[in-house]
Amino acid sequence: MGKVNRRKFLTYLGTGATALAASSTGLNVLTKPVQAGDFHKEGQRKPKIGRLKFSPIEPSSKDDLVLPRGYQYNVVAAYGDKINQQGDTFGFNNDFTLYFPINERDGEREDDDDDDRRKSERGLLWVNHEYVSDLFVFGQEVDKYSKEQIQTLLYNQGGSIIEVYRDGRTWKMDTKSKYARRITGLTQINLTGPAAGSKAVNGATKVQGTFANCSGGKTLWGTLLTCEENYEDTAEDAGLDETHYGWVVEVDPFDPNFKVRKHTALGRFNHENASMGTTKDGRVVVYMGDDKKDACVYKFVSKGKYNKQAGKKNADLLNEGTLYAADLSSGEWIALTVEAVREAAKGNQEMLEKFQTQADVVVHAHDAAILLGATPTDRPEDVEISPFDGTIFVAHTNNDKHGNIHGHITRFFEKDGDHGASEFQFSIFAAGGIQSGFSAPDNLTFDQYGTLWTVTDISSSKLNDKVWKPFKNNGMFAIPTSGPQEGEAFQFASAPIQAELTGPSFTPDEKTLFLSVQHPGEETEDLSNPTSTWPHRAGERMPRPAVVAIIGF
Ligand code: FEO
Ligand code: CA
Ligand code: CA
Ligand code: CA
Repeated sequence: MGKVNRRKFLTYLGTGATALAASSTGLNVLTKPVQAGDFHKEGQRKPKIGRLKFSPIEPSSKDDLVLPRGYQYNVVAAYGDKINQQGDTFGFNNDFTLYFPINERDGEREDDDDDDRRKSERGLLWVNHEYVSDLFVFGQEVDKYSKEQIQTLLYNQGGSIIEVYRDGRTWKMDTKSKYARRITGLTQINLTGPAAGSKAVNGATKVQGTFANCSGGKTLWGTLLTCEENYEDTAEDAGLDETHYGWVVEVDPFDPNFKVRKHTALGRFNHENASMGTTKDGRVVVYMGDDKKDACVYKFVSKGKYNKQAGKKNADLLNEGTLYAADLSSGEWIALTVEAVREAAKGNQEMLEKFQTQADVVVHAHDAAILLGATPTDRPEDVEISPFDGTIFVAHTNNDKHGNIHGHITRFFEKDGDHGASEFQFSIFAAGGIQSGFSAPDNLTFDQYGTLWTVTDISSSKLNDKVWKPFKNNGMFAIPTSGPQEGEAFQFASAPIQAELTGPSFTPDEKTLFLSVQHPGEETEDLSNPTSTWPHRAGERMPRPAVVAIIGF
């Protein structure tokens, strides 16, 4: 049987030998400034030159969140915990997290160390809730949900806004917070864009709730985007119109009067996340993955231009623009317009009936993309724009239909470094497998050293199969995007049994990493004998999805 390759650790010792002698924390990932090359640099931050210090861990089967020496975690909020004085509770299967400094209102990030420190001790944490496990929420598998159970099913998805603060070596939840609240499958939400009020969504301008919230992103104006991924089952179980789900949803964590909205111009598919930037001429761009086998990579480009002074009114930019899907074989972004779709559908009566308006195109974005020749890829999950050189990283988790068992991370290079370009090149930045030590890359996030952090999502049911066994539990990895170790993965964390680590986000000073531990003990069949008991709360054996704060950076 294959064994995870530890060659890189020798490389580590070799190149890090001098640093090792001078450092008490052990091995170092050495990082150099990213070479921006031909790509657009204007207004972009420079990575800090320095060392990210941790001794990589070995794969682990332990029922714990295992971290390198010198790092520790504490649980901030777990399923069922009270989050505010109204008695709202933390939902199930937490995913995407996003930290907002308590005083941050305009969403702008400043490169000021003191300010970063001040902003990193108290904030709001948005947390997605992706789906519900019947066994842990209802005590048994359910064939047909009762009315009451449907309410519970919808309440425990969506998102939580919690207020968190650092108290010495731990992070705590402030349940007296005036901001803490829930957005759920029961919240009323407006539709914007071409599909709002259209026949394609059965005339709806408002819809009930958001669910299947997987990952997300932050807007330039300080709100958040939460993405609806595998919405199909919940929509069916709750008897809801499935065209009302599968969208990108915008929420303002600070302002309950900001209308929660689904931006239909960004297309409807199995949205993993949304990563926002700007084009050279100042329009807003949003890169997105569709987490399905044989699905496409998308970008949306707004019609209007971003105006910093307009603050949250910029949200209207997401009402109108062009949705593109990537054709990797020609290196071109294909615009998904109803005219182009109808031209491509000539002679195909079924498709001509399906696509009559732009609303039809955004509601059935995947079918439109494939019809126009966009490339079906290997489960594009998280997408992240490098804050240093503007290249775009896409986690292609895996796709057994193509023999891509361990997945890879693709890097897109837009022509002239312009996110508004219609052409691109791409490379495979890192490939999963025993040679790299990771399999099934999923969420991505950058730190100030230009290191890309990825978490893995090997399916719980496959963790013990031969080809995945060497990786042991799912994990978190740091991958430098420049320097001698570019593309090499170093394991930072190992998840509890059958859990997936999701939604990593740093505080501005990067001294704290928030991380979701999703579905520990997912394969449990008997509640009295769970396969994981993490987070090992006193007096109970039930595994609970939870958000943790990791310190030690
Ligand atoms: Fe919810 Fe694509 O993971
Ligand atoms: Ca994911
Ligand atoms: Ca991300
Ligand atoms: Ca996943």
